[in-house]
Amino acid sequence: MMKFLVKPFCTFTKNEMMRYFYLCSLFFWLVFYFGCNFNQQDKEKWASYQEKFRPQYHFSPPANWMNDPNGMVYYNGQYHLFYQYYPDSTVWGPMHWGHAVSRNLVQWEHMPVALYPDSLGWIFSGSAVMDFHNTSGLGRDGKIPLLAFFTHHHDGKEKEGRNDYQYQSLAWSLDGGQTFIKYNANPIVKNPGIRDFRDPKVIWHDPSGHWIMVLAVYDRVMFYRSRDLLGWEYTGEFGIEGDTRLWECPDLFPLIVEETGEQKWILIVSIQQGAPNIGTGTGYFIGDFDGLTFHGNIDQQLWLDYGTDNYALVTWSGTTDGRTIGIGWMSNWDYAQVVPTHPWRSAMTLPRSFSLHFENGKYRLRSLPVSELAELEIDENEINPSDLSKGYKQPNQNSLFKIHLKLKKPQSGSITIKFSNQEEEFVMVGFDSTRNAYFIDRRYSGEVGFHPSFAGIHYAPVEHQHDTLDWLIYVDHSSIEWFAEKGRTVMTDILFPNKPYHSIEVLSEENDLQWISAKISDLKPIW
Ligand code: FRU
Repeated sequence: MMKFLVKPFCTFTKNEMMRYFYLCSLFFWLVFYFGCNFNQQDKEKWASYQEKFRPQYHFSPPANWMNDPNGMVYYNGQYHLFYQYYPDSTVWGPMHWGHAVSRNLVQWEHMPVALYPDSLGWIFSGSAVMDFHNTSGLGRDGKIPLLAFFTHHHDGKEKEGRNDYQYQSLAWSLDGGQTFIKYNANPIVKNPGIRDFRDPKVIWHDPSGHWIMVLAVYDRVMFYRSRDLLGWEYTGEFGIEGDTRLWECPDLFPLIVEETGEQKWILIVSIQQGAPNIGTGTGYFIGDFDGLTFHGNIDQQLWLDYGTDNYALVTWSGTTDGRTIGIGWMSNWDYAQVVPTHPWRSAMTLPRSFSLHFENGKYRLRSLPVSELAELEIDENEINPSDLSKGYKQPNQNSLFKIHLKLKKPQSGSITIKFSNQEEEFVMVGFDSTRNAYFIDRRYSGEVGFHPSFAGIHYAPVEHQHDTLDWLIYVDHSSIEWFAEKGRTVMTDILFPNKPYHSIEVLSEENDLQWISAKISDLKPIW
C-alpha cells in the first residue's frame, strides 16, 4: 500500500489509477460524512472545559457563539435554560435556541439544539411557559405542553429594506422541552410595520385571567393579552417620551416589598446604548401593572447591574418556591464578538435571586447569587486581616473562590481589593469616598487590547448610606461578580487574565482599616 501511495503518478497502470480514484473518493466521503455529523454531542466532547479563559462555574456552551438567555422555565424538577446560539461560528449569525438543563442552577447538562431557523426566519429571543390547564389546546393525552414564544427574524426581508421582518411565533413541546413542534399558523403576532419588534416575554396574570405578552418595540415596550396563548390583542405600551435608545428583552413580574408588604411590579428592559459605564446594560422600572399596561415613573429608570457585563437578564417562569430568579448574558455588545476565547464565546452570569425593598423613601431591587451555589464551596476559612494587607496567597491552584469581607466604611480616601496573578496582571475593586462610588478597575486585568472600550474603570453609586461595607465577591477564571451591601449594588465584569488571580491584597489610603470579618471559600468547578 505504501509503495502504491509513493509511486510516481505517471507510472500508474489503468487498474492502479482506478484503485487510486476509489481510495480518494472513499477518503473524501469519510471526511464529508464526519464533517456533516459533527453535531452538538461531538462538540461537547471536543470542548475540554480546560481551555484558557473557560469559566469554571458559570454556564458556557461547549463551542461557538451564545448570547441572550431565552425560554427559561422550571418544570418537573428541572430548570431549562435556552439561549441564543449560532452553532456554526464563534460570532453572531443565524440564531437558533441552544438548550441546557439543571436540577440545581449550578451544574448544567447540555441538550441538543431546541429550535432551528426556518422559512419564516431566524429564532431570536423569547420566553416559555408551562400551559398547565391546556388553555392553548396543544396538550395531548394529558401531556402538559411547554410553549416557547420567540421572534422570527427574517434576514432576507431586512436586507430588502422592509420594516416588517420581525414577528412573534410559537413552538411547543410535549416531552418537557426535549423536542419542539413549530405552530402551523405562525406568526401569532404579526408585525405592524415597526423595524424593532421582538423578544416576547409571556406571563400569566391572575387578576385579569389573561396571559400577557410584553414586547420590546424599538424605544418602548408594548403589551398584548390572550386567553388561549394563540390569539393576542394589543392593550397598551410604556416608554419614556423623547428616549430613542433601543430597548430589548423585556421581563415583567410582581414582588412583595419586604418592608411594607405591598405588591409592586418590576419591568426589566435591556438597553442597547447608554449603560452606566459602557455599551449595553440591563435596566428596570418599579411600578404597577393593571393587566393592560405598566404604570411607572418614567424618570426612574434604574440599573440592575453597574458592571459592564450583564445584558438581557430575564427570570425563570414556573418556579415553585416563591423565588424570582434571573440570569443574564455575561457580556456587552460593544466587544462580545471579539473577546479572546475559543472554541466558545460568552458565558451567563451566576443565577441571581431578586427581592424588593423600600429604604430611605425609595423602592429598590436587590439581587444575590442563588443559595444553591453553596454546594460549590469546598470550605470556608477566616482570613487574618493582616494577611490581606500583606497580600494573601490563594492556596487553591484553580483560584476559583468567593470572598466575603465586612469592615467599617472609611470616612476619607479609598479602599481597594487587588486580585493579582504571577504575570503581574490585576483587577481592583473598591470604594472611593471622594466620589462616594464603588469601582472596578480592569485596565491591567490581563488581555484587554482586543477592543478599545474594554480596558477601563467602571463606577457604581453607593445605595446604602451606612457605616459598614459588606462585600460578597465571586471570582471565576474570566469574571468577577460583586454584590455590595447585601445586593443593593451589583457589578459584573468579565476579565481575561493570562494566569488565575492567586493573590488578594487590601490597600487603603487610611492605615486604620477596621475589620469586622474576612472569609474565603474555595469553589469547585462545575464541569
Ligand atoms: C439582545 C438581542 C435581542 C435579539 C437577540 C438576537 O441581545 O439583540 O433583542 O432577539 O439579541 O440574537
